[in-house]
Amino acid sequence: MTPAPSPEEEAHSRALTALMHERIRAAGGWISFERFMELALYAPGLGYYSAGSVKLGPGGDFVTAPEISDLFSRCVARQCAQVLGGGGGEILELGAGTGRMAGVLLESLAAAGALPARYAILEVSADLAQRQRERLGRLPRGIRDRVVWLERLPERPIHGVILANEVLDALPCRRFTLREGAVRELGVALEAAPADVEAGKAPEAEGSTGAVKLVERDAAPEQALANACEALLGELGQVGTELPEGYSSEICLRVEPWIASLADRLERGVMLLFDYGLPRAHYYHPQRTAGTLRCHFKQRVHDDPYINVGVQDITAWVDFTRVAEAALACGLEVGGLVTQAAFLLATGIEGFLAEAVEPVAHARLAGEARRLLLPGEMGEAFKVMALTRECDAPLAGLALQDLRRSL
Ligand SMILES: C[S@@+](CC[C@H](N)C(=O)[O-])C[C@H]1O[C@@H](n2cnc3c(N)ncnc32)[C@H](O)[C@@H]1O
Repeated sequence: MTPAPSPEEEAHSRALTALMHERIRAAGGWISFERFMELALYAPGLGYYSAGSVKLGPGGDFVTAPEISDLFSRCVARQCAQVLGGGGGEILELGAGTGRMAGVLLESLAAAGALPARYAILEVSADLAQRQRERLGRLPRGIRDRVVWLERLPERPIHGVILANEVLDALPCRRFTLREGAVRELGVALEAAPADVEAGKAPEAEGSTGAVKLVERDAAPEQALANACEALLGELGQVGTELPEGYSSEICLRVEPWIASLADRLERGVMLLFDYGLPRAHYYHPQRTAGTLRCHFKQRVHDDPYINVGVQDITAWVDFTRVAEAALACGLEVGGLVTQAAFLLATGIEGFLAEAVEPVAHARLAGEARRLLLPGEMGEAFKVMALTRECDAPLAGLALQDLRRSL
């Protein structure tokens, strides 16, 4: 059972749902799931990430690796130090959440004498950007002075590291289903109250209850999705994979423009993407019949995006093959793909753990490390992908494993 929303959350949801009703009517009765997800997460002032709910951390809806343990950020710092090589350069972090990773990273880099000349953050959530400012404002002056917030990607080329933890999974995605051998696009429409339907009255007609709710409906796919599905089904067919009738899944068509915009700025260095995801053949496994879409509300995971609208997170797993293809198309190289566990072990998580000699602190850290490393927790489902351009620095974090062959 998912927990009940508070009265304030219900009011918030009603306001966003009313906006969605307007948008659906204006669009002729149906919007794609991608549009729905965009409104649910990013509608100005009302979307999950645009408005003020706690979101991340134990008092919020979900926890991410940097929120579970600073061990994660210390390991990421090791990899960044290797790329920056003590010679300045910059870090650009996308979607920095509460700013916790940025804070630990900067302190670790300062201790290692490898501070970047600038730590830029591009954050679409005004609410989270404010929390980042408060947290990072408490860093020592010589460190905090290097942090800047950007409204858009920088004009000038980046030499250094681009970081994104759990950002790709927050990009609005398309959903499709297979019906009688054809691809149908999943989207959202309005359904009238049963009493009005029985009376044959439209919700806006006189004498109707006027009550409507959001319902999932399929429609002929928009061209971009039709093309992407044709390519996908063709590729799966070549290796003998056939997806069954009724199969539903996601495709994120925002991946290509997102990677292209970053690739355009990265002149020299590495992009490190951390997220839960799979290579394509596993992502679109015939038995994964309902896709990978998940919602997070008050630390519970469920798969109904049409409840708690605007007060719960909606995410989909990442097709890392799509990310790699998008990167290659922009002239980047795929420098590595490993599980989160392999990345953290290669960047010295065990050494950081051993530094904690006080038994209580050690036990606490050991518990955090288990959550980051164990296969049943975050260790295997989460992957780290490195995309590089003109990068001759070693990527120690990507050296323990090589999952690129599975892409
Ligand atoms: C799941 S949270 C992860 C936050 C943080 N990186 C962490 O690991 O705790 C997703 C973050 O990505 C941000 N975001 C979503 N789309 C974005 C985009 N296109 N560019 C930059 N940030 C984005 C959200 O506002 C949020 O901060």
